[in-house]
Formats: sequence, C-alpha cells, structure tokens
Amino acid sequence: MIVVIDGPAGSGKSSTAKAVAANLQIQFLDSGALYRVATLLYLDVNKDLPQFFDTLRESEISFHFKNEKFHAYLNGRDVSDQIRSMEVSEHVSEVASNPDVRAHINDLMREVVKSDIYIADGRDLGTAVFPDAALKFFMVADLDTRAQRRYQEVKAQGKDVTLEEVKQNIAGRDEKDSNRDSDPLKKADDAILVDTSEMSFEEQVAFISEKIERLISTQKNN
Ligand code: CDP
Ligand code: CDP
Repeated sequence: MIVVIDGPAGSGKSSTAKAVAANLQIQFLDSGALYRVATLLYLDVNKDLPQFFDTLRESEISFHFKNEKFHAYLNGRDVSDQIRSMEVSEHVSEVASNPDVRAHINDLMREVVKSDIYIADGRDLGTAVFPDAALKFFMVADLDTRAQRRYQEVKAQGKDVTLEEVKQNIAGRDEKDSNRDSDPLKKADDAILVDTSEMSFEEQVAFISEKIERLISTQKNN
C-alpha cells in the first residue's frame, strides 16, 4: 500500500511524511532525495550528459529510513548531507526535468514499494508514478512561509545563505517543476488539498495520520 504527498518545496511534505511514518510504524520514501542523488552524479561529471547517463546506469542509488531519519546512499556511501547543498538545490530541477532520469528513478521507486506500507513525498507521485495510490495529499503553503521555513533549516545547519536566496531558489524550482513537459508538479484530481500556511506541524501530522489509520482499519474490516 502506498500513500503519497505531492506539493511545492517547503510546504512540509517530507517532515510531515516522516513524522506520520514514525507514528504509524510504516516506511517513508523521499523521492526528491533520489533526484538529488542523481544530481550529485551530474555535478561529479561536470554536467557532461552522455557521461552522466553512463554513470547513472552503473551506479546504485538506495535509501534507508530508521529512527525518523531518511538516509540516501550512492554506491553504498551515505550522501544524505551532501544532497542538501545549495549547489545540488540549484541544479536538481534541471536534472529532474529529463524524462530518462525520471524513468530511472520511477523504476527504482516502484520496485521498492512493492514490499511494505509506504508514505512517499514528491511532485508527481499521485499523477504519474503511483496513480492508484491508496490515498493522495497535495500540500501547499504561501511562498513567504515556505521560504522562511527552509531558511530556518539552512541557518540551523550553519549554511551561509540569505532568506532572499532561499526564496529565489524555491520560487525558481516551483516554476521549473510546474512547467516542465514530463510529469510536472500538479495536484491529482483525487488528491486531498492540505494548505499548511496557517496550520501547526502537529495539526498536519494528525490530519494525515488520522486519514491513513481510518483507511487501514476499513481495509482490515473488509
Ligand atoms: O525538499 P524540497 O522540496 O526542497 O525538494 P525535494 O523534495 O528534495 O525535491 C528536489 C527536486 O527534485 C524538486 O524541486 C523537483 O525538481 C525534483 N522532484 C521531482 O521532479 N519529482 C519528484 N517526485 C520529487 C522531486
Ligand atoms: O518536503 P518539503 O520541501 O515540502 O518541506 P520540508 O522539507 O518538510 O520542510 C518544511 C519545514 O517547515 C520543516 O522544517 C518543518 O518542520 C517546517 N514546518 C512545517 O512543515 N509545517 C508547519 N506548519 C510549520 C513548520
């Protein structure tokens, strides 16, 4: 069974999904992290596309969720911190707009989720990757709120960036992610809209957890 949360950067998808997964003892998949790992490879080969695709095919991208932490691995090496750099954030939407990259990451995700109950977050999970997901959410928040949230995170990590740079990065990614040809960021018709601008973190976790618990108990009774 898979539950998906899509939406723009900083709306709260990953941290909410992570907390819900820990609450309900289910698995968590951060699909954006996988695109970020692919971006590391792209930067490693100095953006040479043919070399990038060769390396992508030969590389192993994997992940592991434990104790509310999502770890991403590239050929067995933990790259969870590296994939959050501004350099990766600046190039990830360009890499993710490539249909061959998307096909590669989608195959990987579809294979992994066969084996357990998952909550996953991304941009196109409800529309393109898992159109038959058991539950779909589309999380949004206004741009200033999202920029402020992401800025607090990067500041806490000691990174030297301004609020304006963070805001421009997420506005630029929203634009690229929403307007690309292959599987753009879009609300699925059957997704539940969750606007977190005025919600507390705890409220959004409780809202989503409750909907999943209700679904699991209905399935058990049938
Ligand atoms: O956490 P944040 O919202 O900053 O981004 P992310 O979830 O780590 O995703 C990084 C980028 O990967 C997004 O801006 C998209 O360009 C791309 N992405 C995608 O195209 N499709 C997905 N299912 C997930 C992410
Ligand atoms: O995955 P996405 O890019 O949508 O967002 P995230 O990586 O979960 O980052 C959202 C940040 O805003 C996290 O630091 C959350 O703790 C914080 N936050 C939230 O998600 N919801 C609120 N109502 C308030 C804060």
